[in-house]
Amino acid sequence: MAELVPLTTSASLEHASAADLIDRLRTKRARIGVIGLGYVGLPLAVEFADAGFTVTPVDLDQSKVDSIRRGVSYIPDVPSERVREVVDAGRLSPTRDFAILAEADAISICVPTPLRKTKDPDLSYIVAAVEEVSKYLRAGQLIVLESTTYPGTTDEVVRPMLERGGLVAGRDFFLAFSPERVDPANAEWHTGNTPKVVGGVDRASTEAACALYEQIVSTIVPVSSTSVAEMVKLLENTFRAVNIGMANELALMCRHMNIDVWEVIDAAKTKPFGFMAFYPGPGLGGHCIPIDPFYLSWKARQSGFESRFIELAGHVNASMPRGSRVHLYGMAYKADVGDYRESPAIDIVRLLEERGAAVSYTDPHVLVVDDHGVSMTGLGEAEALAAGIDCAVIVTNHRAFDYDALVRTAPLIVDTRNALKGRAGAHIFRL
Ligand SMILES: NC(=O)c1ccc[n+]([C@@H]2O[C@H](COP(=O)([O-])OP(=O)(O)OC[C@H]3O[C@@H](n4cnc5c(N)ncnc54)[C@H](O)[C@@H]3O)[C@@H](O)[C@H]2O)c1
Repeated sequence: MAELVPLTTSASLEHASAADLIDRLRTKRARIGVIGLGYVGLPLAVEFADAGFTVTPVDLDQSKVDSIRRGVSYIPDVPSERVREVVDAGRLSPTRDFAILAEADAISICVPTPLRKTKDPDLSYIVAAVEEVSKYLRAGQLIVLESTTYPGTTDEVVRPMLERGGLVAGRDFFLAFSPERVDPANAEWHTGNTPKVVGGVDRASTEAACALYEQIVSTIVPVSSTSVAEMVKLLENTFRAVNIGMANELALMCRHMNIDVWEVIDAAKTKPFGFMAFYPGPGLGGHCIPIDPFYLSWKARQSGFESRFIELAGHVNASMPRGSRVHLYGMAYKADVGDYRESPAIDIVRLLEERGAAVSYTDPHVLVVDDHGVSMTGLGEAEALAAGIDCAVIVTNHRAFDYDALVRTAPLIVDTRNALKGRAGAHIFRL
């Protein structure tokens, strides 16, 4: 971590404006701009407004702007009451008009950083946002990029765009990168108590950005450059992606070896040091873990370095079964009846859904199911097969089923009732 010698009002002349900005931040007189009012930007904007700042967030999405103006939150972790309070107090005034940025002393950019179809970084949202910032940039402003991105983005992409108008980063305005660590639905760790990493293009920028976040976060971790700060975030998310990839591969390996991977992990995690549990699953979800490591591997490739761990983990994680269409034959607890109370089918539906499968069923005797939270409407056999399924599970051996059509059409059949007795095929598995 970087050692920061505090800037004071007696700091050198070139940093006089940093001292002034820091003073405005500490006395809450600074105005805060946030670009992008999503999962990252909205909590951040509300946090600053809660702390007493006047915050003017800008988002292109009029429906989000209108919703916040009405005091209605669309992010589960941000209660509407909190939003309403700061909106009513006049401290949170979202807009679509970027001209408001001219009034901001500090601007945090929180726009999306997705991947292109080719798995290359898509910086178009950052570029569009910075384009707007550059139109209104003035001396003394602090610009902080929070969007997750590859090391070098702030210095190589953002900085030249902002300096085009003649102002110089570190001398005339301040520029930093500070990754967001929001963990949606985490009740313990939130913006205020999650340490925040900050890296500026120079010492004054780092100090100004630290002063900004100190107002809402209890622990600030200054680092020596924007690239280090960018890399920190990618290390955090790559660490998860690679470890989940290993857990997924271990799960497949255990299945081959007839070992219960869950039991293995539960026992391993009793080790009080040097082990951290990661769990297998049907694949990765969310905005970060499936995407961010590819920002890093892309950047590494630009400098001729092939990242084998990231590519391998991405491959393993993407090949885990996910969204498989599993179709149950039979919902009733036994053949030729319509009673599904205590039927194993209900548990099978639940377990499959927990593992990410899209489950449907066919049962001529049970047209609708509503039991223990499982609520479904049955499909016709032919309809289901025509729609396409990945796997059929015979749960009840009703005589009415067209087993010939099933064996002909389904790519994989798990027969738990020996209903297909006498029929052979590599795609048929019996219990
Ligand atoms: N969601 C998370 O849990 C999380 C955690 C850490 C980091 N991040 C990173 O933070 C960044 C933002 O993620 P998010 O989840 O908040 O995204 P999001 O899609 O929820 O929100 C982004 C917002 O930016 C707005 N926007 C897009 N382009 C704009 C522009 N040019 N000007 C103004 N507004 C614009 C969109 O309308 C949207 O409201 C990404 O880089 C992401 O990887 C996200």
